[in-house]
Amino acid sequence: MPRTKIVAGNWKMNLDRAKAKDLAAAVAARRGEAAKVELVLCPPALYVETVGSALAGAKSDVRLGAQNMHDKASGAFTGEVAPPMLVDMGCGYVILGHSERRTLFGETDAAVNTKTKAALAAGLVPIVCVGETLEEREAGRTAAVVTAQVTGSLAGLSPGELEKVVVAYEPVWAIGTGKVATPEQAQEVHALVRGLLAGLSSPEVAARVRIQYGGSVKPDNAADLARQPDIDGALVGGASLKADDFLGIAKAFA
Ligand code: PGA
Repeated sequence: MPRTKIVAGNWKMNLDRAKAKDLAAAVAARRGEAAKVELVLCPPALYVETVGSALAGAKSDVRLGAQNMHDKASGAFTGEVAPPMLVDMGCGYVILGHSERRTLFGETDAAVNTKTKAALAAGLVPIVCVGETLEEREAGRTAAVVTAQVTGSLAGLSPGELEKVVVAYEPVWAIGTGKVATPEQAQEVHALVRGLLAGLSSPEVAARVRIQYGGSVKPDNAADLARQPDIDGALVGGASLKADDFLGIAKAFA
């Protein structure tokens, strides 16, 4: 069975409510341009309901996701959002361990691992992000860094759980910089990740896991990335804020 491609928009802390609604409606209206691709929109948590309503109103199968969550189902955690709350609001996905969460908010592989298990337990598909910094790449440590992140973030998952996870390889030096990894650089790490997944489960399970590339993906570089055998979609930041660009990228994976 070929892997269903998955393209997700990480809106980060951008837009306002009216713009979020318009963008969701625009993506839903043109969803047919990339009909075979699973599309996910990850707005700021506060706009999840607005975007969910816009998608439901358009009777669209564009999916809804969050950008982060707490690992507990409820409790005294001021300012946090619980996995069941995301499910309650219609989310099916959650981005975990994005490099901005890791570097700006101190999320460790152990924390990402706990959140990944919590997401799966709640019925959410975790999009687990990994990737090296420029310094690490230049020091020849890309494989070591990505290996530690993948094995640490996905430790202790059953094969059935692992199969549901989406991994996003996002080299930190490519995020928001306009410096996309070459298709060869990306493919090399994607193949490494698939090998690691096989080690954590089996080659059969690893063959079913979707691995997205992220970092300055644009409509004009998406097709070359999409041709690589282990690149199963994209996690898109800046370009996901424009329906044209987001759909352009999705079409490249169709
Ligand atoms: P970018 O962000 O597409 O703006 O580089 C990607 C991401 O952070 O997920």
